[in-house]
Parts: sequence; structure tokens; C-alpha cells
Amino acid sequence: MLLVLAGFFSILTLLTTRATATLYSNAEDLPSLAGFDYIIVGGGTAGCVLANRLTEDANVRVLLLEAGPSNRNVLDLMVPAFSSKATPNTPWDWNFTTIVQSGINNRTFPYQQGHVLGGSSSVNSMLYTRASAEDYDRLSRVAEDSGWSWEKVVPYFKKNEIFVAPADGHQTNGQYDPAVHGLHGVNGVSLAGFSFSVDALVTQAMSELHDEFPFVLDYNSGKPLGMDEGWSQSTIRNGARSSAATSYLADSYLKRANLHVLIHAHVLRVSPETTGGKIDKVTFTQLGRKKTIDVKASREVILCAGTINTPHILINSGIGDASALKVLNITLVKDLPSVGRNLSDHAALIGSWDRNATDTLAHWTTNTTGAAEALAQWTDNQTGPFANGLTNQVGFLRLNESSPDVQAIFEMYGDLAPGPSAPHIQLFPFNSGPFSLSVVLLTPHSRGSVQLNPADPPGPPLVDIGFYTSPADVLLMRQAVLKMLRFASAPVWKQNLGVPLGGIADIINSDVGAGIDMSVVDAYARATTFTVNHAAGTTAMSPRGAAWGVVDPDLRVKGVKGLRVVGASVFPFIPTANLQAPVYAVAERASDIIKSSY
Ligand SMILES: Cc1cc2nc3c(=O)[nH]c(=O)nc-3n(C[C@H](O)[C@H](O)[C@H](O)COP(=O)(O)OP(=O)(O)OC[C@H]3O[C@@H](n4cnc5c(N)ncnc54)[C@H](O)[C@@H]3O)c2cc1C
Ligand SMILES: *[C@@H]1O[C@H](CO)[C@@H](O)[C@H](O)[C@H]1NC(C)=O
Ligand SMILES: *[C@@H]1O[C@H](CO)[C@@H](O)[C@H](O)[C@H]1NC(C)=O
Ligand SMILES: *[C@@H]1O[C@H](CO)[C@@H](O)[C@H](O)[C@H]1NC(C)=O
Ligand SMILES: *[C@@H]1O[C@H](CO)[C@@H](O)[C@H](O)[C@H]1NC(C)=O
Ligand SMILES: *[C@@H]1O[C@H](CO)[C@@H](O)[C@H](O)[C@H]1NC(C)=O
Ligand SMILES: *[C@@H]1O[C@H](CO)[C@@H](O)[C@H](O)[C@H]1NC(C)=O
Ligand SMILES: *[C@@H]1O[C@H](CO)[C@@H](O)[C@H](O)[C@H]1NC(C)=O
Ligand SMILES: *[C@@H]1O[C@H](CO)[C@@H](O)[C@H](O)[C@H]1NC(C)=O
Repeated sequence: MLLVLAGFFSILTLLTTRATATLYSNAEDLPSLAGFDYIIVGGGTAGCVLANRLTEDANVRVLLLEAGPSNRNVLDLMVPAFSSKATPNTPWDWNFTTIVQSGINNRTFPYQQGHVLGGSSSVNSMLYTRASAEDYDRLSRVAEDSGWSWEKVVPYFKKNEIFVAPADGHQTNGQYDPAVHGLHGVNGVSLAGFSFSVDALVTQAMSELHDEFPFVLDYNSGKPLGMDEGWSQSTIRNGARSSAATSYLADSYLKRANLHVLIHAHVLRVSPETTGGKIDKVTFTQLGRKKTIDVKASREVILCAGTINTPHILINSGIGDASALKVLNITLVKDLPSVGRNLSDHAALIGSWDRNATDTLAHWTTNTTGAAEALAQWTDNQTGPFANGLTNQVGFLRLNESSPDVQAIFEMYGDLAPGPSAPHIQLFPFNSGPFSLSVVLLTPHSRGSVQLNPADPPGPPLVDIGFYTSPADVLLMRQAVLKMLRFASAPVWKQNLGVPLGGIADIINSDVGAGIDMSVVDAYARATTFTVNHAAGTTAMSPRGAAWGVVDPDLRVKGVKGLRVVGASVFPFIPTANLQAPVYAVAERASDIIKSSY
């Protein structure tokens, strides 16, 4: 039943989308391999924005090279509830694995990154969160460029966004602040469009503990502290995923005669055609072929290959740490020691409590009748439980600042949040089966790296996300767990949840009168922490002339002509939010910066 429906749906969309799209799978089919003004490497979140905006000028020719396949007609990339099926180890994932993580019991993770048109925006969990105003004000301070301040970036959030009605068409007054949203942008954003039975319980818990878990009308206003009451914001339009590919590469844009999109095109390196000249040549291979192909850009090459692959391409092109390049026998083009350094990511963990509701994700993974009904409804009119994203509530919270333990962390490391109105953690319930609360550490102190594998430099890089390698993060996660337990202590849960499950019971039981035993919390964190795949920072923005960093505030690679980087890799500090909205804003502003320089 399920498969039959999926197949039927694919045929329908195939018939409606085939007519106008000009996506090329083979370089030979491109009208020409010459005459491009810009070549964009990576058709992901940032790359699709640039491809769209730069081709608004009909005289500018753009080639967009994407290693992965097309996103079109893939049900797992359309149905919001199927986002967990998009990665890992699918055709839409790079299938990276981290190196052994010493801070978390030597575990490794599959490290997910979109390998498909739309990049990670085609496979992510769709939460739409911009981070705090103070994140951008810090960026503008660190990069010494007022253009990255919150005030200057807000118009770019709005330029990206088309805020639309939720899937169920419900009345949304009082559920968001219309003043902060864009109504005429490209990428669809909507409030949750289906309510679960857990939502009312979460709202009640918030009201019972309102001083610590206050309601926030709209966490995308620049002042995110608080929680929404069941109407989280996601990149969902008409009940389906809105990605950089479905939006910025929609048929109406793809048909532009000056835009050329080639999929299955894996870029190996960039180089100057004339030694010492500007970077103008891009070398790639196509799926299943050995032969390399060179293409040339008359203006610029723009790397948008994501936080893992952008440094991988740079280092393979001789742009990186000179001593590392020497060991790898790669000819030095530019010594930039910060390439691949300072990788930041958000560590997360989950606590679970027994609950037997039937409107949960677990219910739909085990109850095939229920799942088939939900899919039939989605296929019919893109409504129902499958039209919803990861969670209906999102909270952005600070740690308990009156606690001496929190004050001690601040004394030692400073407040790692970008300012007093920015969060330390994200807390959200997860309608998994049991009742789950997820906490995400938004202000990590640890840093990791991306390096080439000396045994296979062009192959998958060595990805180190460095979780808990700074003791600060161990201390911060302890406080995050206390905050989670505090939420779970609201009276409403006593009647509606069963016993704490697994390690959460051990943590609670460790309190035999003298408070929770922090060594039990640490053990739980090391054993269960996972990544939310928010890699950032490996080609960081820094002031012009700074000794560290990879790109200047105009996103030009330092000391190299003709080359820019756009994407999550340019943040010198990871934003205190899920990263897609920040990346969209950076890419929109980058488009204007590039246009204005010609
Ligand atoms: C599983 C998952 C869940 C997430 N959930 C959320 C969420 O709910 N909300 C949120 O805001 N953020 C989320 N994120 C993070 C967010 O999606 C990313 O931070 C953001 O999309 C990154 O944008 P980017 O442009 O830097 O890179 P990407 O969007 O990853 O784009 C990089 C593109 O370059 C291509 N590429 C790479 N190397 C090459 C090469 N050598 N040649 C050619 N092409 C290449 C890739 O295939 C890809 O298409 C999630 C990420 C993942 C992976
Ligand atoms: C990731 O693994 C899947 C499943 O094995 C495979 O189909 C896909 O091609 C792999 N991705 C890459 C980039 O190799
Ligand atoms: C992790 O590996 C290192 C090096 O092999 C070892 O010394 C350490 O004891 C290991 N840690 C754990 C928790 O297994
Ligand atoms: C670099 O070249 C040296 C000398 O030719 C060789 O011994 C070494 O294995 C090479 N290293 C790599 C990573 O290819
Ligand atoms: C890492 O980032 C910090 C700023 O957060 C900077 O001071 C430092 O120089 C960077 N290190 C490298 C190797 O780039
Ligand atoms: C499975 O789902 C169907 C449809 O929602 C429902 O009628 C049935 O009771 C469910 N079965 C179980 C065991 O929960
Ligand atoms: C969508 O379809 C379902 C049945 O599949 C129906 O119950 C529901 O009313 C429809 N909703 C809208 C808005 O058409
Ligand atoms: C915050 O810390 C103070 C000081 O330790 C304590 O009295 C208070 O109960 C804490 N608040 C919460 C919600 O845990
Ligand atoms: C859930 O169902 C199981 C099995 O019937 C039962 O043991 C458990 O107490 C129930 N939990 C709750 C929270 O009702």
C-alpha cells in the first residue's frame, strides 16, 4: 500500500515537472563549456541562492556544479515527516564518519551532509531559526564590518523568506510576529500545521514554570529567549519541504537561459589557469567516470560546498596550512593555516520518559495501517500528521545564572553566549514514542577540524567535531541537563508521564539528599551525546589583514584572487540556532556584495 502510493505520486510529479526544467546530468549536454562569468561549486543551501540571484542579470552566465543527484520527485525529500529517512547512508548523503571522538567514549558518528541539489536544506529537519540579534552583532564586531550586524542582516532574512499559511490552514493570530517575517521572498516558511496530543501538555508545563520557561511570541525576532506554544516555524510550504532547490531553483528560475545547472559533477580542485594569476579554473569529474573536465570562470569561482567539503577542496587546491600541504605533497598556492580549523558543532542529548500515546512517530513506524493512512492523506492534499516537521515547540534558554556553578563557568570561560539576550541551550520536546526532551548546547567552547586523509587526499576527509574536548562544554552540558530535568518536574507530567527511562533514571536516583551526582550526568553525556550536524567555522570570516581566518568580510579568500566562499563554513562563531536561516541570510547578502563589485 505504502509503496504503491509512493510510486503513483512520483509518476504524477514527474509528468508535471518534466516539461520546463533544464537540469543537466552530462557535461556534454551543456550548450557550451565556456563563457561563464561565475562558477558556483556546490548546489546546496548557499549555492542555490547565489545561482538564482546572480542570474537575475540576464547578461551574467552562471554554471552551478553539484556533486549529488537531483532532489526532484524524491518522496523522502518532500514529505516533512520523512526527513529522518533522507540521511544517513542514502544517495542524498555524503556518508561521512567522524574520527574517534575522545570526549565521548571514543565513539564515532555518521556525519550527515546533503549530497543532492539543495544540499543540507534538502535533507535537514526544517526548523527555521535565525539566532539572536547578538549573534550578528558579535559577527560584525569580530569581522570588523558593520554590514553583518543584525540590523543590516534582517532585510536578507526577509528577502529569503516567504511566510505562508500552515498546512492545516489554521488561524495564526497570536502565534508569531508578522512584523519580523518576509512575505515576498523565495523560500517557504510556515508554522506547524498539525497538533499532537503532547502539545497541550508542553504548554501547560510552560505555564506552570513560566518564570523559567516563558512564552516567546516569535523566536525569530532577534530576541529568541523563551518557548513557543506549539507553533514552531519550519521551512515547509503547502505541507511539503521547501529547500534551496525547490525554491531558488524552481522551474521559473531554472528556465533562465543564463543559468546552467550540472548535477553528478564532483569538483576536485580549483586553480589559476596562469601560474600566479587569479583562480579561474574548476576541475571536476562526473559520476562513474575517471576523465576530468576543466571549466573556466571569467569573473569568479564561488565555493559553496559546505563546512566539510569547502576546506577539502581548498586544501586539495593548495590553499591551506603550508606545513600540512608539504606533508601531503600538494603544491602550495597560498599559506592559510586556518583552513579546516575551528570546526564547531552543536552537541545534543535526549532524556526520555515512558508514555503510551498513539499519535507519535513510533506509532507510525510500527503501525503500518496508521502510516499508510497518514501518507494517503499527505498524497491527497499534503495535510495531516506527515505535513509536520521535527517538533511543534522550540525553546531558546539561558542557564540558571543565579547558580554558583554557572557563575563559576562564566568566571573561567566568560559567558560563551554572544550577549545577555542570547541563549545557551535549545530545548525541545520530541514526539518520539516515549516522551523525549532534547537539549542542544548552542555555545560550544570545543573546536574540531577537517583535514585531508594522508592515505587518500582526494577521498573523504578526517572530520573531528571535538565534542567535550574543552572542559567548559562538560560543565555547560551538566547545567543543560539540570534545565531539562527542571522542565520535566512540572506538575503536569506527574499525571501524564511514566517513569524516566534509561540513564535519566540513574541521574535522578543519584540524588540521595545532597543533590544530583554530576559524575552520573557526565557519564550519561559521554555515552549518549549525539550531533545535530550543524558543522560551521572551517573557513572563518575575519577582519581584513587579520593573521587568522580564511575569508574577509566580503567573503573573498584571503590573499587569493577570484575566489570566494559562501556557506556555514564562514561563521567564526557558530550561531546559537539551527543553521539554515543564518546561511540563507549570508548567501543573500553575499549575492549583493558580489553584484556590487562589478
Ligand atoms: C541531517 C541534518 C539536519 C539538519 N537540521 C536542521 C534544521 O532542522 N534546521 C536548520 O536550520 N538547519 C539544520 N541543519 C543544518 C543546515 O541544513 C546546514 O547548516 C546548512 O544547510 C548548510 O548550508 P551550506 O550551504 O553551508 O551547505 P550545504 O547545504 O550542505 O551545501 C553544500 C553542497 O555542496 C555540494 N558539494 C560538496 N562538495 C562538492 C564537490 N566537491 N563538488 C560539487 N559539489 C559539492 C553538496 O553536495 C551540497 O549540495 C541540518 C543539517 C543536517 C545535515
Ligand atoms: C552513501 O551511501 C548510499 C547507500 O549506500 C549510496 O547510495 C550513496 O551513493 C553514498 N553517497 C556517496 C556520496 O557516495
Ligand atoms: C579512548 O582511546 C584512548 C586511546 O586508545 C584510550 O587511552 C582511552 O582509554 C579510550 N577511552 C575510553 C573511554 O575507552
Ligand atoms: C610525498 O612524497 C614523498 C616523497 O616522494 C613520499 O615518501 C610520501 O609518501 C608522499 N606522501 C604522500 C601523502 O603522498
Ligand atoms: C579560531 O578562532 C578564534 C576565534 O574564535 C581565533 O582567535 C583563532 O585564531 C582561530 N584559530 C585558527 C587556527 O584559525
Ligand atoms: C493503527 O492505526 C490505525 C489507524 O490510525 C488505528 O485505527 C489502530 O488502532 C492502530 N493500531 C494500534 C495497535 O495502535
Ligand atoms: C485532506 O484529505 C483528507 C483525507 O485524505 C481529508 O480528511 C481532509 O479533510 C482534507 N483536507 C483538506 C484541507 O482538503
Ligand atoms: C537556580 O540557582 C539558585 C542558586 O543555586 C537556586 O536557588 C535555584 O533553585 C535555581 N533555580 C532553578 C530553577 O533550578
Ligand atoms: C504503557 O503501557 C505499558 C504496558 O501496558 C505499561 O506497563 C505502562 O505503565 C504504560 N505507561 C504509561 C505511562 O501509562
